[in-house]
Parts: sequence; C-alpha cells; structure tokens
Amino acid sequence: MNKKLVGFLVLAVVAFTGGWLYAGGEAVASNGVKVVMYQNPSCGCCSKWMEHMQANGFDVEVHKHDVNVNDIKRKENITPEIASCHTAYIEGYLVEGHVPARDINRLLAERPDNIRGLTVPGMPVGTPGMEQPDGRVDQYDVLAFDSANKTSVYASY
Ligand code: CU
Ligand code: CU
Repeated sequence: MNKKLVGFLVLAVVAFTGGWLYAGGEAVASNGVKVVMYQNPSCGCCSKWMEHMQANGFDVEVHKHDVNVNDIKRKENITPEIASCHTAYIEGYLVEGHVPARDINRLLAERPDNIRGLTVPGMPVGTPGMEQPDGRVDQYDVLAFDSANKTSVYASY
C-alpha cells in the first residue's frame, strides 16, 4: 500500500468513528411514546416544549384549533395552582406545562399509581421551551399531583 492510500484509510476510519461517536452523543431515544397535547394556537412556548419532546423521541399529536385547551383543563380539574399553558396526555398521565422530558421518562419508568400527573405551574424561565437568550434559569420544581390535586415535589431544578 502506498502512503497516500494508508493516509486516506486512516482518515476514513477517523471520520467514520467520529461520525459514529457524534451520532451517539446526539442520539435521540426514539421511545415513540405518544403525547396528545392541547395548547392555545398562538402560544410559541408551547410549540417549543413540543420540539423538546420530539427531540427526546416522543411522538407528539398537537391540538391547537379543534379543542380549546381551557375546556381540557376544566374537564381534568387542572386548578390554577397546578396550571400552566399547555396540557398533555401521556400514557394515562397528565402533563401540565413545561415539564422536562427526563421527568416524564422517569414517570413512565416508575408508573406510580398514586399520582395523576406532573406539572410545572406557571411558566418559569429556563424550563424546556422557556429558554432565554441570556441562558437564565430560575429555580423551579416539577410537582406531582394526585386525584385531589395534592402536590408533592417530584424534581427540583
Ligand atoms: Cu408555556
Ligand atoms: Cu405551553
């Protein structure tokens, strides 16, 4: 083998390995879990949360116009203390607002039967979909809520 060919092969192997490692680092866990999400059609942060979920492998079905998200909140008794912008159904659980995908993955792994869902009440700065250009992240809690809307801290950021 001449030197040029050896050099080329080395480069090819490095490029292939690098590409593989890069793809591994960026790999999306394509869990394919279905998310049925309701949002106000004009809400930009809702769409960004949807992108966060898609980037984490969730299969999001979004309803913006056919159903009013406030009707869903009323139907599910999402009271103001636990309410945020969008409401989603994921495998029988409710997910309210900008809950990080990792907490939803944990919920689906643990499947507690004493909680109805997870919420990040309001819209804290720095939650998935609420990122700011300056990178500010406010302290916030992900809350679990039960059938009586009694909450407990599920995760803190
Ligand atoms: Cu929002
Ligand atoms: Cu939203």
